[in-house]
Amino acid sequence: MNVAFFDTRSFDKPAFEKYGNEMGVSYKFFETKLTEDTVRLCAGFDAVCVFVNDTVDAAVLDKLYTYGVRLLALRCAGYNNVDVRHAYGKVHIVRVPAYSPYAVAEHTMAMLLTSIRRIHKAYIRTKDFNFSLDGLTGFDLHGKTAGVIGTGRIGRIFADICKGFGMRVLAHDPHPSQDGALKYVPLDTLFAESDVLSLHCPLTEDSYHLINEKTIAQMKKGVVLLNTSRGALIDAQALLQGIKDRQVGAACLDVYEEESDIFFEDFSGHIVQDDTLARLISMPNVLVTSHQAFLTQEALDSIAKTTTENICTFQKTGGSPNELCYHCGKTDDCRQHRLEKCF
Ligand code: NAI
Repeated sequence: MNVAFFDTRSFDKPAFEKYGNEMGVSYKFFETKLTEDTVRLCAGFDAVCVFVNDTVDAAVLDKLYTYGVRLLALRCAGYNNVDVRHAYGKVHIVRVPAYSPYAVAEHTMAMLLTSIRRIHKAYIRTKDFNFSLDGLTGFDLHGKTAGVIGTGRIGRIFADICKGFGMRVLAHDPHPSQDGALKYVPLDTLFAESDVLSLHCPLTEDSYHLINEKTIAQMKKGVVLLNTSRGALIDAQALLQGIKDRQVGAACLDVYEEESDIFFEDFSGHIVQDDTLARLISMPNVLVTSHQAFLTQEALDSIAKTTTENICTFQKTGGSPNELCYHCGKTDDCRQHRLEKCF
């Protein structure tokens, strides 16, 4: 299989080359993102491999179909950047449903501790031999309440980590886990009682701007907001206002609504045009990382292995257990429920 690989980073190549060689998949690495302007690079390839900020809308999918590309391999879990319904009947889509949920959950806790114990400030001070403690007072996590929205693979691990810190955990999920280990409450209760609120749900039409002016007003004053899921779960303007009003005590963001043209790139020495992001970053109580939560050795290895296996399985069988559900509307005759190929 010849695979066009978009948005290549230096950290992607070693593991993909290793598993590609082992399994007979040839990756051609392009640095550019997949967009309507770059999709012509896909002509002549059997499959296309993309990441979180590539654009796979209806126009791109139609072009892929015209070029004879029948497989899109996502090297990530989330797929909000793909028009999944439009792909039905044309391009099969496989993903990596889980690689290291620990990587993301641990990064979330790392951001929380950094923020509330002012480690980011202390690091810069001591590098400059400034050993003053003024302004570095934090608070104990022990005994505080963590609200976890979305208790799938990552949210569940984050909840367990919080319990390890002696926190009370409240959870919200339309599909609660059945083992009784978490206390599920309605969203308004979770907003009202959480000292720390962490998002671990996918970005869908329902969850778009879940955190907005109205819901921020329902939260405890001084709440610490954590988002390592998808940027558009939070209305960034409303968050900015919440911070200015001191309603939000701190925000830790690994993702941002308008990240696609900014994150993963080096803009040092440039004037960043996104005023909302620039203002957020200027706040002493906002910590931003650049969609980094997944970035561990274990996760990179697992992503490359599963993606390459997905491609090989598709080549052999025409399907894959990691194929997405296209929500084709055939609820009574869903082939995926019967573990068959969708089309
Ligand atoms: P998962 O599919 O295992 O769990 C998601 C959970 O969210 C499910 O239990 C689902 O029922 C729940 N959910 C769906 N809609 C909801 C809503 N409106 N409110 C509350 N809960 C809702 O997914 P996983 O692996 O735990 O990943 C969570 C998210 O983390 C992904 O969707 C992805 O966007 C993000 N992610 C971020 C990474 C990063 O590097 N920052 C890396 C990997 C994933």
